[in-house]
Amino acid sequence: MKKILVINGSARKDSVSTALCKSFIGEKNGFETKIYNAYTLNAKPCCGCGLCGKTVGCCYDDLDEFMADFEQADYFVISTPVYNGSVSAPLKAVTDRFQRYYALRFEHGVKPAVAKHKKAALIIAAGSKGEGKEEIKTMYERMFTVLNTSLEAVIFFDSTDQRVPDEAAHESVKQEGEYFFDS
Ligand SMILES: Cc1cc2nc3c(=O)[nH]c(=O)nc-3n(C[C@H](O)[C@H](O)[C@H](O)COP(=O)(O)O)c2cc1C
Repeated sequence: MKKILVINGSARKDSVSTALCKSFIGEKNGFETKIYNAYTLNAKPCCGCGLCGKTVGCCYDDLDEFMADFEQADYFVISTPVYNGSVSAPLKAVTDRFQRYYALRFEHGVKPAVAKHKKAALIIAAGSKGEGKEEIKTMYERMFTVLNTSLEAVIFFDSTDQRVPDEAAHESVKQEGEYFFDS
């Protein structure tokens, strides 16, 4: 069974990014879907100790289950609000913790650092028009180069200070999801 790993980066009950993420994934019979929220995951920020360059792994064990799920996943879906031009802080903490794979690739010489290829999707909500999309996309594209992961869908919904996605917007995101997930 194909595995989908999702991480939501908003804590808000009425989160636009989380709602769009739900539409993107849709009803997934025949897939194993695991959803994390970065706020409840509450990852310790990378401390840059360099241990992952000396031994395989991380000096913290709080993301062991999440990283095991990541390694097994076929699809990786990230949803996030734009906060000051980037992702939310708890999601940034999770993002930086992928450094262990960078160390695996370049200090331990493991290629690919992650055995199983993943298709990734990014779902972003911004309060203002056009803000944050390119910065966040660039950040993950760069990171995915060592994660055997290809970014194949980017959903960007902006101007949430003025509007929320209507039914048509959700339907369009749902269709993008249907196209993204191989049946
Ligand atoms: C701390 C904070 C920083 C924000 N920074 C930006 C920003 O730089 N650009 C922007 O367009 N919107 C910004 N916003 C607005 C959020 O991106 C917007 O409310 C978005 O819909 C939140 O996503 P969510 O609905 O999934 O929680 C910020 C909001 C907060 C609370």
